[in-house]
Amino acid sequence: MEKNRINELNKQGREMLKPNWDDLKTRETPRGLGETSPDVVKDYDKESIIIELKKEEIKNISSKTLHEVIESRRSLRKYQDVPLNMDQLSYLFYETARLFYIENSRSYRAYPTGGATASLETYVYINKVDNLEKGMYRYLPVSGDLMFMYNNLELEDKVNKAIKRQLRGGAAVFFWTTIPYRTEHKYSFTSHKMIAMEAGHACQNLSLASEAIDFGCVAISAYNQELCDEVLKVDGENEFCIYLAVVGKK
Ligand SMILES: Cc1cc2nc3c(=O)[nH]c(=O)nc-3n(C[C@H](O)[C@H](O)[C@H](O)COP(=O)(O)O)c2cc1C
Repeated sequence: MEKNRINELNKQGREMLKPNWDDLKTRETPRGLGETSPDVVKDYDKESIIIELKKEEIKNISSKTLHEVIESRRSLRKYQDVPLNMDQLSYLFYETARLFYIENSRSYRAYPTGGATASLETYVYINKVDNLEKGMYRYLPVSGDLMFMYNNLELEDKVNKAIKRQLRGGAAVFFWTTIPYRTEHKYSFTSHKMIAMEAGHACQNLSLASEAIDFGCVAISAYNQELCDEVLKVDGENEFCIYLAVVGKK
């Protein structure tokens, strides 16, 4: 890429990281202009296959302290050929993406989100989980369960290509998409930095939860945007992938 173009992109990127909150006029935001609030969770086809995850009952499957978890966490890129079991998968979702409650279009999750706007959706590619078919699933925050999306013979390879060959035999790939309008509706041009931070918070929960059950995780931002959006079946405009992480056995 040409040097001028790189400088221009760097400038745009820096601008995104320093929005001027003094320029944010509440009455000029979509909310201030009276636009209807966006849905706080994505709808789903009620005929879908739903995989029930365990909730409260798996909260004690790790006996590690927060200190131990933080102390031993390192990005993990080499995995044993060992699957997650359903209790462990449930635990990862419970501690990573759980929805506590929704109040006046604000959504309170296991991780903090700008103004409780919770722009993220969580998807998972299941590669190795005991008693669970491989394939793409979406987390349903209201019930705390998984919705089976699809599987086919090419999916593992497509996912691996989309994440630039970083699957490495891992048990699962967590994908976060953003529906940016959820945050833009209230915070307009100051939203995008907050959305990126929100994804960081969610992924950190996953890193720590993985560590707590002797699995490991690597956060991935170097992925192919178009291919990730394609495997997640999102439009790439109103919803698109922003972050992902591979989880595998230490
Ligand atoms: C925003 C972000 C993006 C990252 N993207 C990648 C990635 O695409 N591929 C990768 O192997 N590691 C990725 N990492 C992991 C970092 O390389 C890793 O966190 C760093 O080397 C520090 O190591 P530690 O996590 O063991 O402390 C990413 C980390 C962060 C926070």
